[in-house]
Amino acid sequence: MAKDPVRVLVTGAAGQIGYALVPMIARGIMLGPDQPVILHMLDIPPAVESLNGVKMELQDAAFPLLKGIVATTDVAEACKDVNIAVMVGGFPRKEGMERKDVMSKNVSIYKAQASALEQYAAKDVKVLVVANPANTNALILKEFAPSIPEKNITCLTRLDHNRALGQIAERLEVPVSSVKNVIIWGNHSSSQYPDVNHAVIEGPDGEKSVRSTVSDDAWLNGEFIKVVQQRGAAIIKARKLSSALSAASSACDHIRDWVLGTPEGTFVSMGVYSDGSYNTPPGIIFSYPVICKNGDWSIVQGLSIDEFSREKLVATAAELVEEKEVAYSCISE
Ligand code: NAD
Ligand code: LMR
Repeated sequence: MAKDPVRVLVTGAAGQIGYALVPMIARGIMLGPDQPVILHMLDIPPAVESLNGVKMELQDAAFPLLKGIVATTDVAEACKDVNIAVMVGGFPRKEGMERKDVMSKNVSIYKAQASALEQYAAKDVKVLVVANPANTNALILKEFAPSIPEKNITCLTRLDHNRALGQIAERLEVPVSSVKNVIIWGNHSSSQYPDVNHAVIEGPDGEKSVRSTVSDDAWLNGEFIKVVQQRGAAIIKARKLSSALSAASSACDHIRDWVLGTPEGTFVSMGVYSDGSYNTPPGIIFSYPVICKNGDWSIVQGLSIDEFSREKLVATAAELVEEKEVAYSCISE
């Protein structure tokens, strides 16, 4: 029997991530090849013509799984009964801008959209915040949508996770699909800590640790971390626009694993509400290693954290605590 359609909201749908993301959702890349979807697309009035153009293209592509399209600039209509909300709308960082520069523009957007989601979305809506500063936007959304379970509000660090997998695969000249269990700790910013201490390569003779296979601690503790931390900026420098296809694809990975589960023995990185695991400060949205099952995520516990890693975790947590303070000061202004 055919499944009922799932309603998926994409905010900022006329933007460049939106343009890459909506066809992926309509093709079943986010929720599976047997899951019909109804796309809800929100943008702001100056983008309405462009939004309608995206709607026309979705119709023209005749996606078999796409059972309906709501394209609107009305936030209440956009949020109505949505089961999944991918929050991409906002003001992107431009070349030369620090992420904090975009904070005040984005916190007010997230405060308003939190209320709309709380009022109109399905009670068990799963929310993924992509727009930067992603962790802090998600925190604001959580604070201003108190009836949405805090476990349902997450932010995207899967792109950073995938970037780390890509760098290891390139270095070892192995398929990216054979690398797993890297971890992105903390903020989706240049303070994030890409950690390979628990990462493995799957091969014909079983699993081998990435650290022993790479066998170059100087690279793993230096250049590798820097490249992953700075990859967003490198893309902006190269394209004069922030990453879009990789962000869209990683957003699909995030939701797919959350809804359908992570493969056995594999963990992924998600920004989630901190419970103080690994001695991180509670009350911030922090990226951890997680596994997902039955539509729920849980933080992988008991991983060893060496002194080098501890310092990096402390630094990225400190940045998030500071971002939280700045965000609150923007709200009260
Ligand atoms: P973009 O400027 O192309 O698109 C943003 C869209 O949001 C625009 O169409 C704009 O009109 C719309 N918008 C603005 N305010 C809105 C509002 N209040 N409600 C609904 N829509 C609104 O930007 P983009 O390149 O698509 O990037 C989107 C966001 O994603 C940026 O904040 C960017 O920094 C962030 N990003 C995050 C990651 C990540 O891994 N977390 C990766 C790449 C980009
Ligand atoms: C990215 O990681 O590509 C984006 O978050 C862009 C940015 O602002 O760093």
